[in-house]
Amino acid sequence: MWPGPTGPNAWLRLVLVFTEVPLAANHARRFDSTEGPALAYCPPLVSIGALPPDCELETLLQEGMMLSFYGHVEEMEWALADASEAGRITSDIANAMLSFAESLSLMLCMGRFRCVYPTKEEFESAWNFSCEQLLSRAPPNFPWISTEPCSAGNELMEVMSLVMQRLRYNFGLPGRLARYPLDVAPACDGVKEPDVIQRWPFMSLNGTFGQYVVSTTQTPFMDIFDRFRELRQVMPSELIVVNLGAHDGACKDGAVVKDVANCAFDLGARGVAVEGLTLASTLEGRWKDVLVHVGYVSPANVTEIVGTALSRLAAKHVDLLKIDFDHADCFFAEALLRHGLAPAFMVVEYNRIFPPPIRFKERFSEAKAGRMGQSWMDGKRSQHWSGCSMQAWHDTAAAHGYELLQATLFDLTFLHQNVKHLDLGLDSLNGWPSSIFNTWLASAYCFAPSRRLYGHQAFASLDLRALPELPADDRCALAARWWSSEGQTSQSELYC
Ligand SMILES: *[C@@H]1O[C@H](CO)[C@@H](O)[C@H](O)[C@H]1NC(C)=O
Ligand SMILES: *[C@@H]1O[C@H](CO)[C@@H](O)[C@H](O)[C@H]1NC(C)=O
Ligand SMILES: *[C@@H]1O[C@H](CO)[C@@H](O)[C@H](O)[C@H]1NC(C)=O
Repeated sequence: MWPGPTGPNAWLRLVLVFTEVPLAANHARRFDSTEGPALAYCPPLVSIGALPPDCELETLLQEGMMLSFYGHVEEMEWALADASEAGRITSDIANAMLSFAESLSLMLCMGRFRCVYPTKEEFESAWNFSCEQLLSRAPPNFPWISTEPCSAGNELMEVMSLVMQRLRYNFGLPGRLARYPLDVAPACDGVKEPDVIQRWPFMSLNGTFGQYVVSTTQTPFMDIFDRFRELRQVMPSELIVVNLGAHDGACKDGAVVKDVANCAFDLGARGVAVEGLTLASTLEGRWKDVLVHVGYVSPANVTEIVGTALSRLAAKHVDLLKIDFDHADCFFAEALLRHGLAPAFMVVEYNRIFPPPIRFKERFSEAKAGRMGQSWMDGKRSQHWSGCSMQAWHDTAAAHGYELLQATLFDLTFLHQNVKHLDLGLDSLNGWPSSIFNTWLASAYCFAPSRRLYGHQAFASLDLRALPELPADDRCALAARWWSSEGQTSQSELYC
């Protein structure tokens, strides 16, 4: 391997320092929607399936350190999203900083993937181009301390602490979700910030520089479920819930709802809780009328296990099926629905990496089922290839009479057509196929910090920005190329 333009660790000493830059002043955008997208993909798309042999090892060796850098960029996005919602920054500044963060992330990635470039010159010219992009996205009057901004300067942590401090002042501005700006997210053109006044805490992060909470404008499922119960005129204890993947039984973590089925159990719903991990022992005896199944299940035996428990409870119907096994989830749903389970609602986790119309389904694997959650790093590395994509879920559910009611960054809520007549105060997200792609953009892609959440991008050998930005046919072809290059064809299905 040849060294980079300024030595092997040039990317470490990247750029930038906010000394006395008045973030609140003079922040005209230098890009508008007609000028983007100017950012390159990292690694370049031509390298998918064609990584030089020693390159994989080289990128792997840098992983630990890169994760900590990516983590800081991610925290910056959380802080921006939190500040934007709380009215502490203007949308112009949020846009400029998100654009800057994307550019910064690209430089980090290029430093790590330099070995994919065939020659030193090719790498240098790509690097120089991305450096210009970074400079053009920096706030005006940015005091570059180096004459060679992308090869020397202070470290990322220092930049972070300066940025973070500036996000603390309260300007009392109107709060809004932080949408990625069009110069780094052209596919988000036309995706409107939801025009809803009320927000609910949705996820939280305890970072190095503070705690952040970002919210959702989706009606919380527990409110929908409660309205359903009132319209049906039943008591909470008359509701039947099946929870596949009950984890430790908790409903919330702080203010954030983690598991709607556990919440329903807390309110008195009866039903079945299934959990295979060792923490399932904490579930025994937790709820009076909930049967707990501890142990792994498969699509081949889930119907019998759930069916037996439901008949012990003399349950005639199911109101909610929640699935979050992080493994082949839609195959479990398919098995249950095919055998006649027809819950009013399904709340399921989905794989948000793959935009519609890509149908991705992880197959059930005996070997994987027993290892779930045991190795954090392995889990992270392979999380692109777990679960089922939005389109795959949509198809599975639609084939059994369900419509998509809501989508968040993590979950999809489906409603059975038999209860469609109830006035739940929401319309289902009909339409095909463009509207489901728009649903994906709005829930999984266009609002910070979803793109970088929990290291998805860091472990991908594909720049995930490329999928939504390409037209649907190319999107599918690229996903398929990535899928086979990572040796996933025997473990999962991917088609359009
Ligand atoms: C990249 O930029 C450096 C510093 O400005 C310059 O010396 C070098 O020639 C450039 N390389 C290419 C390939 O453009
Ligand atoms: C963050 O820290 C607070 C206490 O400072 C704790 O209550 C909360 O559970 C933590 N949240 C996460 C997501 O770790
Ligand atoms: C269900 O299948 C899983 C995976 O094959 C197996 O580990 C488990 O023992 C089975 N459970 C029952 C009750 O048959």
